[in-house]
Amino acid sequence: MLKPVELSLEEMGELAAIIPAAEPEVTISYQAIPRFDQPSRRSIIPVCEPTLQGNELKYVQQAVETNWISSMGSFIRDFETGFAEYCGTHYGIACANGTVALHLALATLGLGPGDEVILPAFTMIATINAVTYCGATPVLVDSEAAYWQMDMNQVADKITARTKAILPVHTYGHPVDMDALNQIAARRGIWVIEDAAEAHGAEYKGRRAGGLGVAGCFSFYGNKLITTGEGGMITTDDKEIAHLAWNLRDHAFSEERHFWHKLVGYNYRMTNLQGALGLAQLEQLDDLVAARRRNAAHYTRLLSDIPGITTPPEASWAKSVFWMYGILVDAQAYGMNRDQLRRALADRGVETRTFFIPMHCQPVYWQRFLGQRYPVAERLCRDGFYLPSASSLNPEEIDYVAGVIREVCQ
Ligand SMILES: Cc1ncc(COP(=O)(O)O)c(C=O)c1O
Repeated sequence: MLKPVELSLEEMGELAAIIPAAEPEVTISYQAIPRFDQPSRRSIIPVCEPTLQGNELKYVQQAVETNWISSMGSFIRDFETGFAEYCGTHYGIACANGTVALHLALATLGLGPGDEVILPAFTMIATINAVTYCGATPVLVDSEAAYWQMDMNQVADKITARTKAILPVHTYGHPVDMDALNQIAARRGIWVIEDAAEAHGAEYKGRRAGGLGVAGCFSFYGNKLITTGEGGMITTDDKEIAHLAWNLRDHAFSEERHFWHKLVGYNYRMTNLQGALGLAQLEQLDDLVAARRRNAAHYTRLLSDIPGITTPPEASWAKSVFWMYGILVDAQAYGMNRDQLRRALADRGVETRTFFIPMHCQPVYWQRFLGQRYPVAERLCRDGFYLPSASSLNPEEIDYVAGVIREVCQ
């Protein structure tokens, strides 16, 4: 029987200090707080929520009325074509979620035992799990401190003769320095697969995420810039990867004969109902990106002069979509630590979320990375959390959240 890996904080030694406290319950209605006089429709400010204000219902209704509700239908195709075009790629391959988009993309490369894949220590667990599903070996690199993205110098150092792919993650919607990465990879014939799960519409030197490597992988989970409830997409210019991904996502049925399989495929299909949602969401993506950027600028204006608070950076070559608006808390300079500030916000009706716990600290990967340290990832984990970040956030809500952060440390 399968047994979860148990890892006590004692076993973690020094690393235990970066693990967040238990989640604070978000309790008090912030409407009840007198200084906030702009009534909101919400009793708490959620960390994120979908914005479904376009043709979602209309398209889903059309799918139902025409009986195309499973994994064939025009909405999937239109969503694939439209999203690929948005990212500047030839092909879009829709699938069940962002995790399987990553797995599918790696599977098309034929990765297996003995192959190494480089990825950041600071990411969400799906990135590394996709490598594990292939039986390949994950190799971690730290983040750089300036933009909280994968450190290119470390990538070069970690390449071996067995390195087959690199998985840059555009963390929190900020693109990775892709020219530097592509140069390193091209010299050695290594595939670059972007984990763009958090970066719909993000740009690197004017080019959109998803079109910056050999393939890009997106998530359309409910908290992403656009959502299909659950869903994912691979974007690519590579015809062979596209056709293999379409085939593998559908049990690898062969073209010459039904129920004839030459590869181990998967059922990673998206439904036409999700495609209908996706197409309606895609029509609003530019507006949603603009809202995220507007909200981020508003937060930054209000927070950047508070001692001990670091607002999210944006490189000159980047257009971040601020999927989540993350801040760092320097406990000494601010007067309380990250967990204390989260507690104070939760008590005032503001939901927040801690940054990722790095991969070398995860119980399930503890033995694999035993003794390895990634100081920037660890600092991000210890001090970072994100504020309410939905596109639907209104300016008064941002004023309120920023006001709490300014006042509670005094
Ligand atoms: C960086 C990153 N990669 C992959 C995923 C996985 O996407 P999904 O939840 O759709 O499987 C996520 C999800 O949130 C993510 O943040």
